Amino acid sequence: MLTGPMPLELLDYVRDLFAPEDDNLRLISQSLTASGMPEGWEISRDVGQFFVLMCRLIGAKRVVEFGTLAGHSAYWLSQALPDDGKVISIELNPEWAEVARQNLQKVGVGHKVEVRVGSATEMMAPLLEEVQATGQKFDAIFLDAAKAHYPEFLAWSEDVLRPGGLLFADNVLRADSWRGQTLLDPTSDDPRILAIRQFNSQLANHPRYTGTIIPIRAGVAVGLYHGK
Ligand SMILES: C[S@@+](CC[C@H](N)C(=O)[O-])C[C@H]1O[C@@H](n2cnc3c(N)ncnc32)[C@H](O)[C@@H]1O
Repeated sequence: MLTGPMPLELLDYVRDLFAPEDDNLRLISQSLTASGMPEGWEISRDVGQFFVLMCRLIGAKRVVEFGTLAGHSAYWLSQALPDDGKVISIELNPEWAEVARQNLQKVGVGHKVEVRVGSATEMMAPLLEEVQATGQKFDAIFLDAAKAHYPEFLAWSEDVLRPGGLLFADNVLRADSWRGQTLLDPTSDDPRILAIRQFNSQLANHPRYTGTIIPIRAGVAVGLYHGK
């Protein structure tokens, strides 16, 4: 019987086989470091390849993400879309948004990604208005910022995601910034942990989502939305 955690070298094997580092990812990573952004906040290559696979499965054309950083996840998501597809990426920090814009331009996907500056929680209403005005719902949503608000984002997703669309969320099992507290510790009082526990439980029991958590990197939730 197989026991124990998956050996790390096997996870490296999968990542290097299916999502090897290329010059574009190297450029974005070098810019992240050069701009003084926090290291390790970006999604890993195995998560990126998972997004590409899932978005291509549903024929995604319009994606919105919360949390741009240097543009790693926006780059991966753009790879899944056709040439006239669009990723809207929301970033709180205007300087980082500008770095990401330049990176995405340099790696040839600038025409597919629009980086908007603002707070994810404040962007929910205008994005909903945009969807209502154009009648174009999103095919996929990626949550990677404002983690204490994940339950609100889940509720909002039902108005902006098309039936058959996908909701992704990062850090649903762990994060460096949780000050040593863990998801399963019943005494944790970090608002992000409490919100993520609530989000995970809501997704697991949601009548209009089929979901799970893929235990890669920090834990990535994925939910297939059935519609109202
Ligand atoms: C974990 S990083 C995102 C990493 C990115 N998705 C990637 O994989 O390359 C989180 C980002 O969200 C931004 N951020 C933090 N709070 C935010 C908020 N309330 N609204 C929008 N962005 C926020 C941070 O500045 C940071 O760039």
